[in-house]
Amino acid sequence: MKIVVLTGSPRRNGNSAYLAEQFIKGAQEKGHEIYRFDCAFKQVEPCRACNRCGMDGPCVIKDDFNELRPHLIAADMVVFATPMYYFGISAQMKRVIDRFYAINGQIKGHYKKAAYLMTYADTAKKEAEPMLLHYHTLMDYLGWESVGEVVASGVWTAGSIRNTRYPEQAYQLGKSL
Ligand SMILES: Cc1cc2nc3c(=O)[nH]c(=O)nc-3n(C[C@H](O)[C@H](O)[C@H](O)COP(=O)(O)O)c2cc1C
Repeated sequence: MKIVVLTGSPRRNGNSAYLAEQFIKGAQEKGHEIYRFDCAFKQVEPCRACNRCGMDGPCVIKDDFNELRPHLIAADMVVFATPMYYFGISAQMKRVIDRFYAINGQIKGHYKKAAYLMTYADTAKKEAEPMLLHYHTLMDYLGWESVGEVVASGVWTAGSIRNTRYPEQAYQLGKSL
């Protein structure tokens, strides 16, 4: 499969990046092709809602989204790896997702697998619910199928996830494909 992995953290060696790496390791061992796009390190402007794309056409903004665009359209699977920022996905990732608008016609209703890798500092399960609801609602809208979610709680400092069970879960998810 062609798998696009979107990471959303500005911490290169952070927790969600580590989950993404473990997922990638497992998936590559099974021979899948990975295209990784680190949203926080790319120049991607937010959608301007000009509607010139008509939800299915060229975007007026010429930036790094153009690099990602063909990979997203061709992908068999898309993985979202993000920290929780105030009970939502990171802004760095959200601005990339909002640019899906210009390719909506080419990705909505075109079956893809998906996975969600999320990290947060608190331990209350309830606090992860808004992000999971957003992800599942997005999958329903696009007609994509979520094949796995790693919800890593209790990780605050960059890299603290290494001593938990979550990296293994991400690795096994990649390996299971
Ligand atoms: C701007 C900001 C907002 C955050 N908001 C939350 C939050 O709402 N709930 C929470 O439990 N942790 C929150 N955190 C902590 C991160 O989710 C946590 O440290 C996570 O493991 C970071 O992942 P990363 O290492 O991939 O960046 C926040 C951190 C930052 C920098």
